[in-house]
Amino acid sequence: MEERLTTGDKLKEDSFEKNIRPESISDYIGQSEVKENLSIFIKAAKMREEPLDHVLLYGPPGLGKTTLAYIIANELGSNIRTTSGPSIEKSGDLAAVLSSLEPGDVLFIDEIHRIPRFIEEILYSAMEDFTLDIIVGNDSSSRNIRIDLPPFTLVGATTRAGDLTGPLRDRFGIINKLNYYTEEELMMIAKRTSKVLNVGIDEDAAYELARRSRGTPRIANRLFKRVRDFALVMGNGNIDLEITKLALDKLKVDSLGLDNTDYNLLKSIIEKFNGGPVGIEAIASSIGEEQTTIEDVYEPYLLQTGLLKRTSRGRMVTKKAYDHLGIPYIEK
Ligand SMILES: Nc1ncnc2c1ncn2[C@@H]1O[C@H](COP(=O)(O)OP(=O)(O)OP(=O)(O)O)[C@@H](O)[C@H]1O
Ligand SMILES: [Mg+2]
Repeated sequence: MEERLTTGDKLKEDSFEKNIRPESISDYIGQSEVKENLSIFIKAAKMREEPLDHVLLYGPPGLGKTTLAYIIANELGSNIRTTSGPSIEKSGDLAAVLSSLEPGDVLFIDEIHRIPRFIEEILYSAMEDFTLDIIVGNDSSSRNIRIDLPPFTLVGATTRAGDLTGPLRDRFGIINKLNYYTEEELMMIAKRTSKVLNVGIDEDAAYELARRSRGTPRIANRLFKRVRDFALVMGNGNIDLEITKLALDKLKVDSLGLDNTDYNLLKSIIEKFNGGPVGIEAIASSIGEEQTTIEDVYEPYLLQTGLLKRTSRGRMVTKKAYDHLGIPYIEK
């Protein structure tokens, strides 16, 4: 499948992200409530000389969960160790990571909802009592041993908070949801990127780019990089409004950040299901996509912008979407 330019998911071309990641809370734009809370908890933990409570960060892809995990470690003055749910296949994998922690470390587990259930239990005592319970030996002579762990802070990130088990979720003292960014915040992010990459961008161009970035910093930065190429080849290197519009139109990202996939989804509900309400299964089969892909990747932004509505009887396309697509709306 062709890669979607407007997906919040990480693409290969985003490898430059590391270089433009903000490194301190004050450099992290938006999410003000999350930042305020975290700042206080971090300060308090430092004053008490205790590790920060375990932190769960959740929200759609590309909103800055990984970035924030690194910032938490920075602000604590701690080292960060990273791993991810999919890379933990055996209990030994997790035990190895936990037993290598140093006092005060931040352990970042990305996609934490993907840790297999039978391994997850190891985390319970590790998080609660800083102990590691493992079974050593083979069947005939196996025994439990308990190892003390140094105090540490677990930072877990997930795009699917609903997939976490209750017991795991309950062991996080600090739970933060990241929200889509406003146009103003995305403008600030575009301008920050412009400084870091040393490429000028006009105010109105930054606004245009922000509007089309689906509330997502990763997309804003990705579009920034593409528009920068157009500015270099077709202009004098500076990103102005004209070049931004031209580039984004060519890249088929419309004024709300919608692309062909979104059009396809909305149009198919309008044309095949009279605008809805229609169940997610029916939508999935009509456009040939996985249900979870629609739920996790396509739908959140359409719901957020009010183009799609969730009702008890299924999804409905709103009047705003009809207007945006230029299709006459008939009141039902
Ligand atoms: N608040 C922010 N201010 C400035 N830049 C940001 C902010 N949040 C994210 N970014 C930029 O967006 C990029 C993507 O963020 P990040 O990798 O942290 O997202 P994520 O939520 O971890 O995504 P995923 O769910 O795919 O793991 C970062 O490299 C960073 O450059
Ligand atoms: Mg991440």
